[in-house]
Amino acid sequence: MATIGVVGLGVMGLGIAQVYAQAGHQVWATDAWPEAREAAAQRLRQGMEPRVASGKMAASEMEAILSRIQIGALEALAPCDLIIEAIAEKLDLKQSLFAELETISTATLATNTSSLSVTKIAAGLRDPARVLGLHFFNPAPVMRLVELIALPGTDAARITQARSWTEVAGKTVIACADRPGFIVNRCARPYYGEALALMEEGHSPGEIDAAMVAAGYRLGPFSLMDLVGADINLAATEGLAQAMGNHPRYHVFPALRAQVASGQLGRKTGRGFLHPNPLPAAPPDTAAIALRIEAVLANEAASLLAEGGTTEQGIDTALQLGLNFPRGPFASARRHGISEVLAELRRLQAAAPAPLKARYAASPGLLALQ
Ligand SMILES: NC(=O)c1ccc[n+]([C@@H]2O[C@H](COP(=O)([O-])OP(=O)(O)OC[C@H]3O[C@@H](n4cnc5c(N)ncnc54)[C@H](O)[C@@H]3O)[C@@H](O)[C@H]2O)c1
Repeated sequence: MATIGVVGLGVMGLGIAQVYAQAGHQVWATDAWPEAREAAAQRLRQGMEPRVASGKMAASEMEAILSRIQIGALEALAPCDLIIEAIAEKLDLKQSLFAELETISTATLATNTSSLSVTKIAAGLRDPARVLGLHFFNPAPVMRLVELIALPGTDAARITQARSWTEVAGKTVIACADRPGFIVNRCARPYYGEALALMEEGHSPGEIDAAMVAAGYRLGPFSLMDLVGADINLAATEGLAQAMGNHPRYHVFPALRAQVASGQLGRKTGRGFLHPNPLPAAPPDTAAIALRIEAVLANEAASLLAEGGTTEQGIDTALQLGLNFPRGPFASARRHGISEVLAELRRLQAAAPAPLKARYAASPGLLALQ
């Protein structure tokens, strides 16, 4: 058993602390905000109580988990083997936290960042070989996926240990390179983007969602955006577009900006693209809608694959676990046939307005799958 440190007791930090404590590890956790430290034990308890009430967790197990999580000052994390930071998403804060941790502990330093470069977080440390990314999904105790981002210089033994402790805690750990959005947040973009393109061409959000549900997806793209919030989706889309040099593959469709400007952000505001309306029947062009979205998903996944650091299987599993997709983008592409997917991309490219033609250019990674 290892001693795990967690810095930041917000939504993610609390969940991550629970994940490791549940697996029997000793956890030391802290937060810069005294109220967060004081409320942590109670918030952890409140998070687990519904599971105890429904019989999914024994009360004694909840008490054992709580007893393994100790809240203290940052210095209390000194004896940890692995420290995971889940503090605010600000590069300078993460850099100075790791610089401080480097002086007080010999632990492997992991960041849970969603959108920052792990390389930049490690830059400036005396020993950047101690740093890696462990990207959990929300809620961490429930979501099985963890993306593991090792830098070219990260110490191999530290990678193996971090993977093993996280796998023992019940997670499926998928390796990926330090690329913007890692796997899920990048490869998911076309699910929303292509749906927004279809909407701008005159399809209704309900039709598009119904088509994707008929194709096996638990939630259509608009229902997913309504769940997470159109504003959150816009921020993620804009962040990735900027990180990828505003390539048209990451085009921010005006329909998304308009939705955010309307204030109808989804479930949290009571109205979104689709919410609270029920899903209509699947439209006659269901197969064409699914082919189009899955072709663009596969093209993005193949472009990430070609950049290295991950595998076809890893990407497929990450999207199944991270987004509840019924199959990953490569499995979808192989179901249609790679040549069919390439033909669809050619058709989309021919029909696209000039600024968006490059959006549909087949990535070398996809051409290589033929
Ligand atoms: N919320 C998500 O869905 C999600 C999913 C995956 C990854 N992440 C990432 O996890 C991290 C945390 O996200 P969150 O949603 O839990 O945030 P949050 O705002 O709920 O919690 C952040 C906590 O960190 C504390 N904090 C801030 N600066 C600190 C510092 N310098 N030292 C110690 N504590 C500090 C804050 O007091 C707060 O309690 C971010 O990097 C985020 O990008 C979030």
